[in-house]
Amino acid sequence: MCGIVGYVGEKNAQEVILAGLHRLEYRGYDSAGLATVRENDLTCTRCVGKLGSLEGALRQCPHTGHVGIGHTRWATHGTPNETNAHPHLDGPGDIAVVHNGIIENFQELRRKLEDGGVSFRSETDTEVLPHLIHAHYEGDLFEAVKKALREVRGAYALGVVCRHEPDLLVAARKGSPLIVGLGDGEAFIASDVPAIMQFTREVIYLEEGDLCTIKRDGCAIQDLEGNERSHITATVDWDETTAEKEDYPHYMLKEIHQQPDVIRHQLLTYVDKQTGQVRLPDLGLDEVALCDISRIVIVACGTAWHAGMVGKYLIEGFARVPVEVELASEFRYGNRVLGPNDLVVPVTQSGETADTLEAIRIARQEGASVMGVVNVVGSSIAREADGVIYTEAGPEIGVASTKAYTSQISALVLFAIQLARTRRTISGEAARGLLKHLWDIPGKLTHYLESCETVRRVAEKPRYLKARNAMFIGRGYNYPSSMEGALKLKEISYIHVEGYAAGEMKHGPIALVTSELPVVCIAVQGQVYEKVVSNIQEIRARDGITLAIATEGDDLIREHSDDVLYVPDCYEPFSPILVAAPLQLLAYYIADGLGRDVDQPRNLAKSVTVE
Ligand code: G6P
Repeated sequence: MCGIVGYVGEKNAQEVILAGLHRLEYRGYDSAGLATVRENDLTCTRCVGKLGSLEGALRQCPHTGHVGIGHTRWATHGTPNETNAHPHLDGPGDIAVVHNGIIENFQELRRKLEDGGVSFRSETDTEVLPHLIHAHYEGDLFEAVKKALREVRGAYALGVVCRHEPDLLVAARKGSPLIVGLGDGEAFIASDVPAIMQFTREVIYLEEGDLCTIKRDGCAIQDLEGNERSHITATVDWDETTAEKEDYPHYMLKEIHQQPDVIRHQLLTYVDKQTGQVRLPDLGLDEVALCDISRIVIVACGTAWHAGMVGKYLIEGFARVPVEVELASEFRYGNRVLGPNDLVVPVTQSGETADTLEAIRIARQEGASVMGVVNVVGSSIAREADGVIYTEAGPEIGVASTKAYTSQISALVLFAIQLARTRRTISGEAARGLLKHLWDIPGKLTHYLESCETVRRVAEKPRYLKARNAMFIGRGYNYPSSMEGALKLKEISYIHVEGYAAGEMKHGPIALVTSELPVVCIAVQGQVYEKVVSNIQEIRARDGITLAIATEGDDLIREHSDDVLYVPDCYEPFSPILVAAPLQLLAYYIADGLGRDVDQPRNLAKSVTVE
């Protein structure tokens, strides 16, 4: 939530920062702004709305400085307007701050500053920071930021510039992600790697409590007590197109089409070519620890929670370990009962979701082990967990999660197989059989995605495009798929959609069925197929519109459904990966058909770093 970019170097700071902010817009797009310093002058431009508005304003009055900070905002405190947009300035306009996170004691700090005569311009929590830094400023920005942050409670990733120190950028991190990029005679800060990938591949992942000075020739890091800290520089090996849309009209469509490659890459990474066995090198759990697990608690939010729900079926099915799946936001305030034999598994694309991060901190305090299923390398959750399986999906830019979801499921398959083998609940031969089924998935997905026009033709039918409400139902392994299909459609089309367990229809949801309600019924071959077909018939008997997701070759289902989208036949436990594709495409084409902003749906941000 909120994206930060900062630059110190020879280049025009405005250009570098705008290029970076474009790559971070998925983190928020309520307003954007930038401040640059040149020869003891500080210039700040801010605009409400997406980055395009800021670019328009900068075309009129371009900045020429070589040092600067920029921000794209998802509003927490204060409505999305120009006054509340970042950067925020101190009274005289000497110091500018961009911030991601929440200053919890901002009201108390604001009152204190106001009592001292400071006038505030915005309703934001962030504005206390430039005023506080100003109050401590005695010619040394770094020291002033350090003193100010000692008074602050809450979460922050910060970039600060000051007109009296035109070659310096100060950055700090606590509870919100921030990286430093090191180039040749230039340096950067950013909320995420894609923002600076086009300029440098050398990055430092800042740690909790880091405060650093960033100059053209590098950076120096301390903690708030003034102790020096050293960090390793990592090299990012993504290729340049990874964060580009390429020839696709939207990131979401590109990322849907990347899914076969992502799963193939994950399998190549984690399945040993010689032995054909799963190898999870950073699991952080040895054989004894895996055998000692008495319960697994998966914690996650949003789409990742749905992947976790599939994970429960997989782990319980293969490894026979009881699994609970909790929304991280509920888990953190619930009456948890955790112990040393519990394994808590956060599932998260960003590795920064505030609730998931807090959930694992609680879990560790209560003695449980934590093993994360995480996409972003070096993210907070990846670092704080005892072990990690990286999902290897690459950067996901579309706000609606697609490839991250399917890669989370396949990573959970690998974990379930590994756990099952270690605990001897499946034989070596059975494990090889499961892996063979998993290896089949990328090819089947590729084959399916070649015919995605079929989904577009269905999605564009008025009965779907004009629907005000819709329902998704599924059962067993595909109950989570129904939840995910519903979430995908609602978040990008703004149609009211609910996902239900098909077996629950008669306990309430069927009352909603009318001739105007489309019901997407996931009815692939498997142990619950006939049950779902009965549910479809019950919906049809009440005039509902039925769209079945069925297995290729199932001609009978046409008799019960208004429309059918066929997916290739596959091993039932892995069908949620294949079923995700038509659900994602259906949401995509409906939303696109309605003219929605598919990659940046209203009110949402991709990385939810505040509670
Ligand atoms: C937001 C995103 C979702 C994502 C969820 C959890 O709501 O829009 O796509 O599933 O956060 O994020 P995480 O990064 O923890 O997977």
